[in-house]
Amino acid sequence: MQQYDLLIIGSGLAGLTLALQVAPYKKVCLVSKRGINDSSSNWAQGGIAAVLTDDDSIEEHIQDTLIAGAGLCDAAVTRLVAERGRATVQWLIEQGVPFTREDDDSGYHLTQEGGHSHRRIIHAADATGHAVQKTLAEKVHNHPNIKLLENHIAVDLITARKVGIEGGKCLGAYVLDNANGHVITIGAQHTALATGGIGKVYLYTTNPDVSTGDGVAMAWRAGCRVANMEFIQFHPTCLYHPQAKSFLISEALRGEGGLLKLPDGTRFMPAHDQRGELAPRDVVARAIDFEMKKRGIDCVYLDISHKPADFILSHFPTIYRRCFELGIDITRQPIPVVPAAHYSCGGVMTDHIGRTDLPGLYAIGETACTGLHGANRLASNSLLECLVFGQAAAQDILSQAAKPGVKLPDWDESRVTDADEEIVITHNWNELRRFMWNYVGIVRTTKRLARAMNRINLLRDEVHEFYSNFRVSNNLIELRNLLQVAELIVKSAMERHESRGLHYCKDYPEMLEEAVPTVLEPSNYYSLLDRHHGQHP
Ligand code: FAD
Ligand code: SIN
Repeated sequence: MQQYDLLIIGSGLAGLTLALQVAPYKKVCLVSKRGINDSSSNWAQGGIAAVLTDDDSIEEHIQDTLIAGAGLCDAAVTRLVAERGRATVQWLIEQGVPFTREDDDSGYHLTQEGGHSHRRIIHAADATGHAVQKTLAEKVHNHPNIKLLENHIAVDLITARKVGIEGGKCLGAYVLDNANGHVITIGAQHTALATGGIGKVYLYTTNPDVSTGDGVAMAWRAGCRVANMEFIQFHPTCLYHPQAKSFLISEALRGEGGLLKLPDGTRFMPAHDQRGELAPRDVVARAIDFEMKKRGIDCVYLDISHKPADFILSHFPTIYRRCFELGIDITRQPIPVVPAAHYSCGGVMTDHIGRTDLPGLYAIGETACTGLHGANRLASNSLLECLVFGQAAAQDILSQAAKPGVKLPDWDESRVTDADEEIVITHNWNELRRFMWNYVGIVRTTKRLARAMNRINLLRDEVHEFYSNFRVSNNLIELRNLLQVAELIVKSAMERHESRGLHYCKDYPEMLEEAVPTVLEPSNYYSLLDRHHGQHP
């Protein structure tokens, strides 16, 4: 058994921020299921929203966030995040992140994205996430107080309740070492879930393979409430190409003048919304979905070729290069795009410093539901949220005195054998992703949601049997978590009898007067999958 002051699960921006803030004072273990840089954070393009100029204001950032959130944002949390924007960006600058400067070097270049009333997105060309991740990861690698465990996937949280210890606390996690198949026990005074999003529950997504909702599923199994899981953001413009998997075409491209067009070259956004291409994402994604279904077309086009080639090359070098490799010259041709699952506005419920319902357990970044995003996240508010809550959780952890560790039981594998048919896992995973896309996508109906729930119920038995009888593997852990997350998304969607923000249901097209979050409590909804722990001590 290993023992630390703080165990962080996930090495995206949320996890790295927390690790670097706590490490000067406490022993930290940072677990990441692939390489340190395998994260959504590393793929982020557009940038980070923050009020950085005098012609902008905190009030306007708050207002833009609240409008996008369609009445469901927590006003106090929104204010807190907007107010901390400048300081958190300053911290990144101090760490050495090379943000793009104005041509005349008068300051940082700020770009524009949908739903923002000002240019307020600080960025590093069109690869902001990579610049941030690389800078912070390097510091983590060199920090003597941080033990980095790459290629290790957390299986489940260890709670006092599960191991029969008094105190109702989170005590650490069981973690599978993917290199040798052994499950190790990591004890910690504090544990933080920073596991990112859930994109892989859908067939088409902008997310990397690691985004399988593990944090939400683990927290749920440990007894935490989750909220607003029906609000899945579909990014309007994912590259549509047979050889490109999950490549995003940043919203900043529309911010800098890119236009959405039908195959015959006509614009369609003005007919859907007066804000045109810069309407909030839910509006643009639904408009594209509508046009594709109405016309039976496979994609629409995003065209920035009317801008000078050197402007395009300097602002969007990554997008230019990737498209060029695939035979699309964006300085001359429009880019084929389709919507894809991008971001989960819901997640593990936390307070304003990242604390969950379980003492000792924090959730930060995309895995959390802090109340900032409401029913639809404003572009570039996510990286900001990772920073603000990573820092807030760090302060809370640092304010607490160290306590001695508790002896925890080892993972028990005595009743399991090696899996005989991996194909069951692959097949179930593919089936899940396909029906989630078809039945729980951009436009929903009550009937489709019920169909999805029937399928989930069937898959659950198979996955449960597998989990109970066979040694855990990376794929099995992820499938089990994805299934749990799918169940939470569908349950939440079924509970909402209106259309609001990202949740659009044809049977309830109107928005109700009162905005109420969807809060699911494990005690009310304990699924069969959770009640049978074949491998728990
Ligand atoms: P992530 O960065 O996804 O990191 C999660 C980490 O957890 C990974 O290291 C993963 O391996 C690890 N992990 C997961 N499960 C386990 C487990 N069981 N055990 C161990 N490790 C685990 N937002 C913006 O604000 N601005 C943007 O410009 C922007 N662009 C984006 C572009 C793309 C293509 C994508 C996909 C998202 C973008 N977003 C953007 C959203 C934003 O990037 C993410 O919401 C944010 O990076 C999430 O950070 P995170 O630290 O919470 O999670
Ligand atoms: C993008 O660059 O379009 C992504 C921005 C975001 O998800 O906030």
